[in-house]
Amino acid sequence: MTATLIDGKELAGIVRREVTGRTAASAIAPGLATVLVGEDPASGIYVASKRKLSVAAGFRDLHRHLPSDVTQEELERVVDELGADDEVDGILVQLPLPAHLDAAAVIARIHPDKDVDGLTEVSAGRLALNRPGLRPCTPSGVIRLLDWAGVGIKGAHAVVVGRSDLVGRPQAQLLLARDATVTICHRYTADLASATRTADILVVAAGVPGLVGAEHIKPGAAVIDVGIHRTEDGLCGDVDFESARQIAGHLTPVPGGVGPMTIASLLQNTLTAAEFRRGIR
Ligand code: GUN
Repeated sequence: MTATLIDGKELAGIVRREVTGRTAASAIAPGLATVLVGEDPASGIYVASKRKLSVAAGFRDLHRHLPSDVTQEELERVVDELGADDEVDGILVQLPLPAHLDAAAVIARIHPDKDVDGLTEVSAGRLALNRPGLRPCTPSGVIRLLDWAGVGIKGAHAVVVGRSDLVGRPQAQLLLARDATVTICHRYTADLASATRTADILVVAAGVPGLVGAEHIKPGAAVIDVGIHRTEDGLCGDVDFESARQIAGHLTPVPGGVGPMTIASLLQNTLTAAEFRRGIR
């Protein structure tokens, strides 16, 4: 079997056009405040794309760039300021932050109604209780990819590899909310391959290049690769693409799979936050 590839670039384009249309129809221009600290090149590229695509969707760009030696107090003051500013509908603090900063404390300052990354305790609590709220962008993008590819979630056994705040934990919650039976694997899982081989849906977000190969995959499973790593040979994911595609039913490529969906979900969340704040939803 050769897996059907799920084209995240194409779906992200569809979602962005949807958001652009909804934005134009509602005659609101959501304000997105991205906060970038320091000069990390990868973070700089991600934030530049988020800003560019949000402007293309009709949003207002309220970006803040702070120096790498900014203090915790100053950064928290900026986040508080954005929370109080009526022009701002969404706040996104790009992670990781420089090592001297306490990211959890910064995220805790984000106004929950503007938490377009879905990372605050309020957003995580809403997700855990299956209440309406803003959901983390990458895991929401994964759900949308599965739906678009026609992969049934209800009643499926979904295995998530990784338990990060940004992806693994919220991914498991989102799959559970869609009535999957969910297993979470992590670095202390005794026999990873025997757990992942039971998955109808396998989401790999471990941050380890090539961790998952053919021996981890049940024939016909949908395999979603959230990893992205720069190597001498270009970009690769957490899944060994060539061996996985011989056995999976569906597979996301890296690049061009999950990555583009993260920004598409951010745009959706920002518009949703703007609509809520204006009482449209
Ligand atoms: N760094 C890598 N991915 C993300 C994301 O989705 N949100 C934020 N804020 N930082 C990130």
